[in-house]
Amino acid sequence: MALTSAALGDTRAAFDRVAPSYDAANTANPLLSAMRQRALTVLSSQVAAGAQLLELGCGPGTDSIRLVEAGYGVTAIDWSPAMVAAARARATAVGLGHRLSVHRLGIHELDALSPSVFDAAFSNLGPLNCVPDIGDAARQIAARLRHGGVLVASVIGRVCPWEIGLYLARGDRQRAALRFAPGFVAVPLAGGTVWTRYYSPSEFEAAFAVVGMTRVNLRTLGLFAPPPYLEHAARRHRAVSGLLQWLDDRTGSWPGLRHLGDHFLITLRKH
Ligand SMILES: C[S@@+](CC[C@H](N)C(=O)[O-])C[C@H]1O[C@@H](n2cnc3c(N)ncnc32)[C@H](O)[C@@H]1O
Repeated sequence: MALTSAALGDTRAAFDRVAPSYDAANTANPLLSAMRQRALTVLSSQVAAGAQLLELGCGPGTDSIRLVEAGYGVTAIDWSPAMVAAARARATAVGLGHRLSVHRLGIHELDALSPSVFDAAFSNLGPLNCVPDIGDAARQIAARLRHGGVLVASVIGRVCPWEIGLYLARGDRQRAALRFAPGFVAVPLAGGTVWTRYYSPSEFEAAFAVVGMTRVNLRTLGLFAPPPYLEHAARRHRAVSGLLQWLDDRTGSWPGLRHLGDHFLITLRKH
């Protein structure tokens, strides 16, 4: 299924609705915070401070501010006006408004950004799952990177054993199979709909290979560790959750395992 402008409007409205509470809710979620931190760690291992970053789907600016504080130049974009407003307000509140440039722009509209080329692009926690055409998004992202520049992205994957097990245990086979849909699916968010396309790492890599970007590294986020929506269980069983996170970190890059999990974290380089 192709994504219509009405569907893109649904996604925008859903994220607009959650924007005011999004940062606080996410920061309080230990599983999501762990995923966020791992993506930032990979980014800083690939891209030195001082580099110019393009952040894709910045949400309320949670990472944007940390990246500015870490010494990167950050240009951030997001499709949701309320998320953009939240990111600007947060940057202003911490005295960094003059150092963070945030634009209300879809990743699928990147060609409309004023001419500039970046050392790296960064996208955390699934914005790339919402773009209408990943091939076209790959083209637009590659065009914004210098030669040798990288994209570091955490992307929602197809095969999440926790989710499959959870829904099969509840007898909901349709929900257990949701991520295997070939096209976009309607994912509920706060009474709205986020139109989401799930990718295997191979599908994602293939879209970027066409535009001359190839994989530098890949790991799973949330294979042994449960997905973020199981945060209550993780809080109740902190020691077990910590052990599962450790297992993810130890084994998450292994061939086979890195293709499974709630998200995958991938770095692609433009050649
Ligand atoms: C799950 S949130 C992640 C936000 C942020 N990266 C973070 O880690 O907190 C997904 C974000 O992607 C944005 N988004 C959805 N579709 C988009 C698109 N086509 N172009 C740009 N941003 C988009 C949403 O508005 C939302 O802010």
